[in-house]
Amino acid sequence: MTAPAPAPTPAPVPTGAHAPARLAARALTLAYEDRTVVHDLDLAVPDGRVTVVVGPNACGKSTTLRALGRLLRPSGGAVLLDGEALAKLPTRQVARRIGLLPQSPVAPEAITVADLVARGRQPHQRWWQQWSDADETAVTEAMERTDVTALAERPVDELSGGQRQRVWIAMALAQETELLLLDEPTTYLDIAHQVEVLDLVRQLNHDRGRTVVVVLHDLNQAARYADHLVAMKDGRIVATGTPAEVVTEELVREVFGLQCVVIPDPVTGSPLVVPGTPWQPPPAPPPATDSPARKPSPSEPSPSEPSPNEPSPNERPAS
Ligand SMILES: Nc1ncnc2c1ncn2[C@@H]1O[C@H](COP(=O)(O)OP(=O)(O)OP(=O)(O)O)[C@@H](O)[C@H]1O
Ligand SMILES: [Mg+2]
Repeated sequence: MTAPAPAPTPAPVPTGAHAPARLAARALTLAYEDRTVVHDLDLAVPDGRVTVVVGPNACGKSTTLRALGRLLRPSGGAVLLDGEALAKLPTRQVARRIGLLPQSPVAPEAITVADLVARGRQPHQRWWQQWSDADETAVTEAMERTDVTALAERPVDELSGGQRQRVWIAMALAQETELLLLDEPTTYLDIAHQVEVLDLVRQLNHDRGRTVVVVLHDLNQAARYADHLVAMKDGRIVATGTPAEVVTEELVREVFGLQCVVIPDPVTGSPLVVPGTPWQPPPAPPPATDSPARKPSPSEPSPSEPSPNEPSPNERPAS
């Protein structure tokens, strides 16, 4: 009897910490005028993976993402693309390699959906060829993937917040860059569209090897969709690693100041953050003993007995 042939060894999957980084920040300092908001930050974006950045409001997530997309010039350190300082690369070359969806993009007045998505193709166009079949295919596909084809002729400023957000995502997809930076792409989206957009991110990553960096506020979605998670606080990175390494009760308390329990997500097994007990009104004070006595009617519960509808404070679930 011959021994079964050994199963082919799968290609090693780079883990977040060791994957080669084509996009990286080295001692990156970012400031608005004289106010520094990101301090001496080192970040390696694992190539071909989905990195999710989380952190409280105003901790510097968007500022960092804008610098990674060259919308903001560092006041110290550098952003490197394949080892070269991003600031020194030609704008067009950067736009063909890095697509950035900012947190609050502003559309030109009265522009239609199709025209806005088509703007994503600008970095690929040449003066001698304004519009190619490749442009047409990229725009059509991006609109289909984001479910905005039916809105093509509508003015962007007449759309709902969620529709508009999907149009911006379509524009970023139409740019067809190997690196995609998305700042809170699920803002304004209902839960089904949130899941659709995040699934799309994973699909792009899987089918086309895109490297994606996404800022998300929902820790549970971050833990579900990230290969690599980066937690920021006060302009600094406080933790990086897999969701299981980063999303812990201690980290959520330290970074967000929130008491929670972390349990395995019943569907994916990724960490699921369950915040502590919601605010409850304090128990009613007992009636003052020296107030004029009022004889309770026989149907009224005595003040010392809890009302049947009100659990006593002791019976409430512990926080
Ligand atoms: N254009 C700007 N000019 C001056 N200060 C700015 C500007 N943009 C952001 N800031 C400040 O920089 C700090 C970091 O802001 P940033 O937008 O990066 O935070 P964030 O982590 O993305 O927050 P959020 O979760 O609310 O989007 C904040 O204190 C903010 O007020
Ligand atoms: Mg932001």
